[in-house]
Amino acid sequence: MTTRTGNAAGNRLGAYSAPDALRAEVLRGLANRPKALPPKLFYDRVGARLFEEICELPEYYLTRTELSILEERAPQIAERCGEHVALIEYGSGAGIKVRLLLDELENPAAYVPVDISMEQLVAVAAERARQYPRLRVAPVHADYTTRFLLPALPPGARRVAFFPGSTIGNLHPAEATAFLSRIRATVGHEGALILGVDRGKDIDVLHAAYNDSSGVTAAFNLNLLARLNREFGATFDLRTFRHRAHFNEAASRIEMHLESLVGQRVHVAGVPIDFARGETILTECSYKYDRPFLEDVVRAAGFSIEQLWTDEQDWFWVGFLVPA
Ligand code: AVI
Repeated sequence: MTTRTGNAAGNRLGAYSAPDALRAEVLRGLANRPKALPPKLFYDRVGARLFEEICELPEYYLTRTELSILEERAPQIAERCGEHVALIEYGSGAGIKVRLLLDELENPAAYVPVDISMEQLVAVAAERARQYPRLRVAPVHADYTTRFLLPALPPGARRVAFFPGSTIGNLHPAEATAFLSRIRATVGHEGALILGVDRGKDIDVLHAAYNDSSGVTAAFNLNLLARLNREFGATFDLRTFRHRAHFNEAASRIEMHLESLVGQRVHVAGVPIDFARGETILTECSYKYDRPFLEDVVRAAGFSIEQLWTDEQDWFWVGFLVPA
């Protein structure tokens, strides 16, 4: 196992910080106008469980739509990858989607799951090694949004990165470009990237996906304040905040906010934070891509789109990107 680091607070985007740095980031965000908090704060143990529940919701189409594309297109994706591939998965999590690819790849050279959660990484690596006894499984414990060291890979193996889930959508365009540029440097001239991307669609569908009728997304959003109470001695009264999510058409993104229902003063790590009635904290952006938007981000990162596969409703893309 290659280990790059070992400190606190993991998250879906792989970013994490030491508690002091995280506290400073939280206070900076709350001092902003408008107030904002980083989405990585969602993914403590409770938030990670709530996110898994979100993925199963009837309204949250992203997970099952991407899976349907992978199920149908895995043979074609594998053909594009070619033989003797080292598959590097960014944020391997529970690592379910990758099995669809591993089942189809011809004589894969290695599987490199990269994740910040040591617990999940160890479990996924052991399971894949058991399922594919001839495959070299080389887990890397690291924050995948930063530079990390790859383990030695079999000579001549083509490096193919896999970044599913439309997690790219939680990065602002400039951040997305910077992140994809790092992947481009990692896979090299001969490599490739398999990328999951959520597409723009009917606003009602988007709205329902982030305002589900069972209230799981609301609980996921509010857990962020509960986490600040638990970890930073904050004094948020969760009954005085509510979840709000809407589509910002100009920016082509869902924005999730927490709205204060009353004028109030809250303390976070001993620092007083004032809220006007109706004031919100921006907690997450989830960008929805169209083709020109995707091409801009991808091109700026040094990739070009070789193929995009979609589902029958044209809601999601799985893209095969190669160095430009
Ligand atoms: C992880 N990410 C792709 C999810 C999304 O849809 O942007 C996070 C999420 N937020 C609310 N529901 C799901």
